[in-house]
Amino acid sequence: MKATELKQRYLEFFKHKGHAIMPSASLVPENDPTVLFTTAGMHPLVPFLLGQKHPLGKRITDVQKCIRTGDIDEVGDDSHLSFFEMLGNWSLGDYFKEDAIKWSFEFLTKILKINKDKLSVTVFIGDQDAPKDEESAKIWHSLGIPKERIYFLPKKDNWWGPAGLTGPCGPDTEMFIDTGKKSCSKDCKPGCSCGKYLEIWNDVFMQYNKTKEGKYIPLIQKNVDTGMGVERTTAILQGKKSVYETELFSSVIAKIKELSKKTDKRAERIIADHLRAAVFILSEGRIVPSNLDQGYVLRRFIRRSMTQGRKLEIKENFTAEVAEIIISIYKEDYPEFTSNKSLILNELKKEECKFNSTLDKGLKQFEKLSKDKKISGDDAFILFSSFGLPFEITKELAHEKNIQVDEKGYEKAFMQHQELSRKSTEGKFKGGLADNSEITTKLHTATHLLHGALREVLNKDIFQRGSNITSERLRFDFSFDRKLTEEELKKIELIINKKISENLEVTREEMSPEEAKKKGAVGVFGDRYGKKVSVYCISGFDKQICGGPHVSCTGILGKFKIIKEEAVSAGVRRIKAILE
Ligand code: ALA
Repeated sequence: MKATELKQRYLEFFKHKGHAIMPSASLVPENDPTVLFTTAGMHPLVPFLLGQKHPLGKRITDVQKCIRTGDIDEVGDDSHLSFFEMLGNWSLGDYFKEDAIKWSFEFLTKILKINKDKLSVTVFIGDQDAPKDEESAKIWHSLGIPKERIYFLPKKDNWWGPAGLTGPCGPDTEMFIDTGKKSCSKDCKPGCSCGKYLEIWNDVFMQYNKTKEGKYIPLIQKNVDTGMGVERTTAILQGKKSVYETELFSSVIAKIKELSKKTDKRAERIIADHLRAAVFILSEGRIVPSNLDQGYVLRRFIRRSMTQGRKLEIKENFTAEVAEIIISIYKEDYPEFTSNKSLILNELKKEECKFNSTLDKGLKQFEKLSKDKKISGDDAFILFSSFGLPFEITKELAHEKNIQVDEKGYEKAFMQHQELSRKSTEGKFKGGLADNSEITTKLHTATHLLHGALREVLNKDIFQRGSNITSERLRFDFSFDRKLTEEELKKIELIINKKISENLEVTREEMSPEEAKKKGAVGVFGDRYGKKVSVYCISGFDKQICGGPHVSCTGILGKFKIIKEEAVSAGVRRIKAILE
């Protein structure tokens, strides 16, 4: 069965069971700032799982576009994907375990014609938050699954959600196909990663709401949330070992091979996966590559594909060519692939153009520096700071070429760099005109607020490259590779002035560098500090290892205003700001 038929059959099956068919929601969640992308079919349904009435009723079915970046390093094996389509059916306070399990069984055995003797299931074993799920086990048993193929497993296996930090969740029952392979050990059972058992479907019984305190409170209604991966199920139904051998990928892989001078299965798969994810994100017409949030993830997908492309010696500007094939596969199911085709191809070409020369220079330097099969921490830092090669790419290249990278050394070089900036700050600070006067103290705290706001508005990875304070203004240099927009500058000012108006307490604590690191403080963790470091914390917003001095409450700072934003050198920006 092809993927398109699987999707149709699924929706039809649940339509017959009284479900309304709902179109896929956007990949960018509408109302959930805790995650960047929709990671599961239930995501857009959260308010309705919590009790709000859904306009389509209490039974819904759909095919939802999902992105999960948590397993990105595993992409390239047979089954991990960063983008996938998820089939799902929901009961919003309507049917519960009995119907959900019966229908899953019926669809698997009658429609997909899977032999029931190959099915194994898992159910929740119970713990302090929820009881053992005897009911689901009984239903499976009544359908003809023998007891020895019903496994009771703990929360880490048989509990799903919430999708973000808080929200609906509950025990689940998962369905597995036995491939007939030999067990890898006597403990081999569904959930084992050896490949004997393949997970095909997950029925979640969403009856709890996880609060931010970590408590599980019963929901006002009992819901069902199910999820079946289209790509994986297609591969299982076609008896293919990997998702890349199905019609969803085979022509994409063929195109990549045609463009390549070398073969490398993993690289081909990463390109196919990442560009597919990029095309789906771009097709919605909302996100373009950037250094912020979803735009940054999109940028990583494209840039990582390019790095893999170099390995295959693909000629430049190939992403759009591969994207054309991806578009041809999905254009019937997703009309936006046609209407936004030129946007998709242009954005890919633009991003590829932007990163091409950086990548070339970086890779050339990488070759030079890795001649003796080792890259020192300082060299890795130079690759990053002077050649724009992100450390994650250096690490990945090195790993593939069996070259050692001194990761600790890189961290140290990185920190030393910050240390230099800090020393120069403090030097200037001490010798400065105002010499720890009230205004410089205020500007010092304002610098911490600026650092925190930059991390919030741009990205978490920006770091201080220098700082200088006079009695008139602060000057802060940081790693970032483009001009900030008016909008971003406004947002940064807004956040800082809000933090000032909240009159947050600024506290100082002494602790070991390890402890500081554990508590999430940013700054220099070198051993030169001795046993204790001083950590300044602006309540709930920013935490840094710092010598001080600082004001004790942000309320006295006045009004923060950015007066200039400019480039210092490639990849380093400078902000000058005053307190009015
Ligand atoms: N929400 C469940 C999952 O993603 C169905 O597996």
